[in-house]
Amino acid sequence: MSDPRAFIHALPKVELHVHLVGSAGVDTVLALARRHPGSGVPTDRAELARFFEFRDFPHFLKVYWAVQSMLVDRHDIRTLVTGLARELARQNVRYAEVTVTPYNHLLDGMPADELLTGLAEGRATATDLGVSLAWCFDIPGEKGPEAGRETLAFALRERPEGLVSFGLGGPEVGVPRAQFTPYFDQAREAGLHSVPHAGETTGPETIWSAVRDLGAERVGHGTSATEDPALLTHLVEHGIPLEVCPTSNLRTRQVESIEKHPVGLLLAAGAVVTLNTDDPPMFGTTLEAEYLAVATTFGLDPAGLARLASNAVRASFLDAAAQATLLAEIATLTTE
Ligand code: ADE
Ligand code: ZN
Repeated sequence: MSDPRAFIHALPKVELHVHLVGSAGVDTVLALARRHPGSGVPTDRAELARFFEFRDFPHFLKVYWAVQSMLVDRHDIRTLVTGLARELARQNVRYAEVTVTPYNHLLDGMPADELLTGLAEGRATATDLGVSLAWCFDIPGEKGPEAGRETLAFALRERPEGLVSFGLGGPEVGVPRAQFTPYFDQAREAGLHSVPHAGETTGPETIWSAVRDLGAERVGHGTSATEDPALLTHLVEHGIPLEVCPTSNLRTRQVESIEKHPVGLLLAAGAVVTLNTDDPPMFGTTLEAEYLAVATTFGLDPAGLARLASNAVRASFLDAAAQATLLAEIATLTTE
């Protein structure tokens, strides 16, 4: 394929792994920083670009938390959601499951009602733009079982429209997945899907734990699965999709280069790979850029790209009718 860009754009796409705070556009972050001079986030564009150069994963999280701390009310949340929706619409992304971390916003002093109203208003605008949004409420793992308990209680008490899943983010090092088992059990019993991060910054044992202890229906990242053939076989046999975020892993220095990214091995092994952005402006990426990078590096033809887009549709928590509509549209692009 000479230039796959037009084909990638034409694919109706689905994004399954994007954090709301990490989706804040550069202009939005600059505007917030000017309103919050004490946050440590630069107010100058060039400085902000340097601020978004990460030494390692813990450094990335510090920067992420600095941006998060500037969000105070429904207007800020709505600005983020509508900014994300506009960007998704521009890329022909039709549906996204967006990760929100209520525990952190409440801890930073945002009233629950402000958070929920901002999400609902932003989601309504997204619908008008042709992008349907769903929510994943996730536990900030570094804050331990208390955060698990509170995130679950908030999710079940508020149960906002569009909430489909329950997640676990933050660092993996020193944060065993199994301590969150009771909260994931209760979330699943209440009908929320289990989508923890695992295997982003630690080895395959974390992914095993996510699957066995948290009932993971999809794995956030899951890139270290390639280090354990038995795990990889398990993921393939059970069709457990991986939310792979290649540029994120490069920018947090978990992987040296796109050529060395495990996504090539995951595809070759027959894993259900979905491509995602994680925190797009912070990592200087877009969903279309992720498809392009993987296609050019690993030699995917239009059928291979369409398979990735279809994987994301099937791995999503869209209902069967909405999935069928998107899959049919993808199919027409490859049979023309
Ligand atoms: N929060 C935002 N981005 C994250 C990532 N890549 N991993 C874990 N937690 C996150
Ligand atoms: Zn993530």
